[in-house]
Amino acid sequence: MSTSGSTPLRPLAGRILSGIQPTGNLHLGNYLGAIRNWVALQKDFECLFCIVDLHAITVWQDPKDLIRNTREVAAGMIAAGVDPVANALFVQSHVPAHAQLAWVFNCVARLGWLNRMTQFKDKAGKNRENASVGLYVYPNLMAADILVYKATHVPVGEDQKQHLELARDIAQKFNIDFGKTVFPLPEPVIRGPGMRVMSLRDGLKKMSKSEESDYSRINMTDDRDAIALKFQKAKTDPLPLPTTPAEFEDRPEAANLINIYAALTDRALPEVLAEITGLQFSAFKTKLTETAVAVLGPINAEMKRLMNDPTEIDRVLARGAEKANAIANDVLKEVYEVVGFLPRH
Ligand code: TYM
Repeated sequence: MSTSGSTPLRPLAGRILSGIQPTGNLHLGNYLGAIRNWVALQKDFECLFCIVDLHAITVWQDPKDLIRNTREVAAGMIAAGVDPVANALFVQSHVPAHAQLAWVFNCVARLGWLNRMTQFKDKAGKNRENASVGLYVYPNLMAADILVYKATHVPVGEDQKQHLELARDIAQKFNIDFGKTVFPLPEPVIRGPGMRVMSLRDGLKKMSKSEESDYSRINMTDDRDAIALKFQKAKTDPLPLPTTPAEFEDRPEAANLINIYAALTDRALPEVLAEITGLQFSAFKTKLTETAVAVLGPINAEMKRLMNDPTEIDRVLARGAEKANAIANDVLKEVYEVVGFLPRH
């Protein structure tokens, strides 16, 4: 991790904001659906990457775990190749403008819009009365994360699509209500075979940190043995491996493992299918394990090294927050003026 100097953000093809929750282990879905795309895009975009601790507490987090997970996510992102010097890598609670703009958006977004959010329904479950109010208005805060930087592009996994549509709706309603184009409509960047990595136990559920069984996911901190065991135990079906994408129909587990392989090797599906045709599932799983270990092993080792120096991680995050605050405070000031708040003298 380089610590020298503070490079200003570069004006490039556009401005990216994306975020990740510090709620537990980073997993292969986070890596293939989000972080790896961030690393690829950082060459061409001005990038802000945010560890969203305000979002994390919408469900209970043990305070000691939250601190550790916040540093661990930062270490994971840097180890995976996010450049914290060229970009801004920071913690959401270090930039108060996110929460301030979120309040304004609470007054722009409509109840009907939030009532349609499927992630709230999934997370709140049957006992909706007992869910935190924060969980309900979570998408408004997410819109604020993006729009407080007037970000033009948001690279995420497919599960965030509905939240991004809401962010666009909020931007548009704000611009119309106040008769001024303050916000751009941010473009989702959702791409590649890694945009939807599914559970290893159930090909119809997404791989997630909150799934109870650790066998459902590959964590970025898993060692070779854990990765091998999890892929060995991964659910499959009795048919031979599919040979065309059309054969993925009704075979979600097989499709998932092949998609993971394509994403890890960064190759198109037809090429991957041609390579594995004729293999038994067991031989394919060995191949998959070797590939995952080759990709995740070095990231894992670097993550551990970085975690040995939490002070250095905190320094990097403080520098990121400085860059982020500089942009966010200007946008918030503009919003407050447009809304008609009396300027502070
Ligand atoms: P979070 O923390 O759940 O996930 C972080 C990123 O990883 C992606 N992801 C996946 N991609 C493919 N397959 C999966 N199984 C999978 N699981 C997770 C997510 O799509 C995401 O890109 N609400 C967001 C965090 C957030 C945010 C933002 C994102 C807050 N503010 C502003 C973008 C812009 C979330 O809970 O991500």
